Amino acid sequence: MLSAQDNELLTRVGPGTPMGALMRQYWLPACKSSEIVADGPPLRLMLLGEKLIAFRDSSGRVGIMDHRCPHRCASLFFGRNEQGGLRCIYHGWKFDVDGQCLETPNVPASRDFKTRVHAKAYKSFERNGVVWAYLGERAAAPPPPMVEATLLPEGESRITFTMRECNWLQALEGDLDTAHFGFLHMGSVAPEDLDPANMHSYAVIDRAPQFHVRETEWGMMGGAYRKADPGNIYWRISHFLFPFWALFPDGTFEDNVTADAWVPLDDTHTMFVNFAWTKRTPPLRTLKDGRTIPGLEYRHDMLPNTTDWLGRYRLASNSGNDHRIDREAQRTTSFSGVTGITIQDQMATEGMGPIVDREFEHLAPSDAMVARTRQCMLSAARALAAKGTMPPGVDNPDIALAARGGAFVAPEGIDWLEAYRQRMSQRATPADITKAAE
Ligand code: FES
Ligand SMILES: [Fe+2]
Repeated sequence: MLSAQDNELLTRVGPGTPMGALMRQYWLPACKSSEIVADGPPLRLMLLGEKLIAFRDSSGRVGIMDHRCPHRCASLFFGRNEQGGLRCIYHGWKFDVDGQCLETPNVPASRDFKTRVHAKAYKSFERNGVVWAYLGERAAAPPPPMVEATLLPEGESRITFTMRECNWLQALEGDLDTAHFGFLHMGSVAPEDLDPANMHSYAVIDRAPQFHVRETEWGMMGGAYRKADPGNIYWRISHFLFPFWALFPDGTFEDNVTADAWVPLDDTHTMFVNFAWTKRTPPLRTLKDGRTIPGLEYRHDMLPNTTDWLGRYRLASNSGNDHRIDREAQRTTSFSGVTGITIQDQMATEGMGPIVDREFEHLAPSDAMVARTRQCMLSAARALAAKGTMPPGVDNPDIALAARGGAFVAPEGIDWLEAYRQRMSQRATPADITKAAE
């Protein structure tokens, strides 16, 4: 459990909150590059409780700014994106991507003061198909994030945006509580249904793993372990990286280049952004007879995007239709009765309510990673508020390159951190694979 006060501190991310201040130290994945076209309509973008717009000017540069015009607050969402800037439809003031006012056509030339007017603009950059935003206050933004999966070249990367209708923290905690995999996703699978040569079958043979958790330079690292074949241990390694990243273990460690960002749109809506290497070994999704594990068929049907602040990337299976739960399937074939891993996770975490009441919980040993990560975040948010201490990775984002999630089998008796180090030294990276293929 967590006190109501600590829960409030962790979950609120709007302007002026301690956790909001922490989040504002980092670059956030904001939207896909393809969502804004040169001289096209502005995009309504909610981030950390702020109503923003994103647009691309005639020369292709991206602007992200408060949606309110600094004149009298008409929404720049309705603006005309033309000839190198965005023009407010109320009185025609025009702004460039940096927020500088270029024209104030309703002001007599003798009274012109446009050089002193700025829209509240935030810094941005684009990399491999994603627009990143920095909502902090530094004049020079910190260096870009170096989470491995975000560095994948566009041609080898699958990037998926999905909105979740709950607070960012309970969504993130689904990635840290790795023991749920054997129930929510695989609860109906019997060990004998799986190929015994597939190491991930150990997660079904023993659904009650033990855990090691350790604080790291980038945040937190967890290892869930259970017996494998005689003399060996099956490890599932996961990481939390500040401020909202998770590297989860659903894959083969050697090439499991994938990461989840849980980007708070506001306190009760989260954009789940998954970056995945298209060349990674596919995770376990089939029974030994080749059929897909019931419930794990890929489902990601989306509602059409709308222009609403919260209208992007909404699943068609959602809380409004009980995630299309099939009670007959739940009774006979699939543990959850819901089809699609993301939809199953959505059902579990949204069903807790918009912001879960953590005083109501009874944490178990399998929640060690969840509990320690909360404490780590609380300390970082308090240290930033009290002393201005920068949280991990803001100025040295390359520490993230030492983090990889995934599963492997290692001999019993080897320390888990040593086993992790060994696996890291043998892992495949996209550059290595690309070079090897040439
Ligand atoms: S409110 Fe935008 S120009 Fe007047
Ligand atoms: Fe899950």
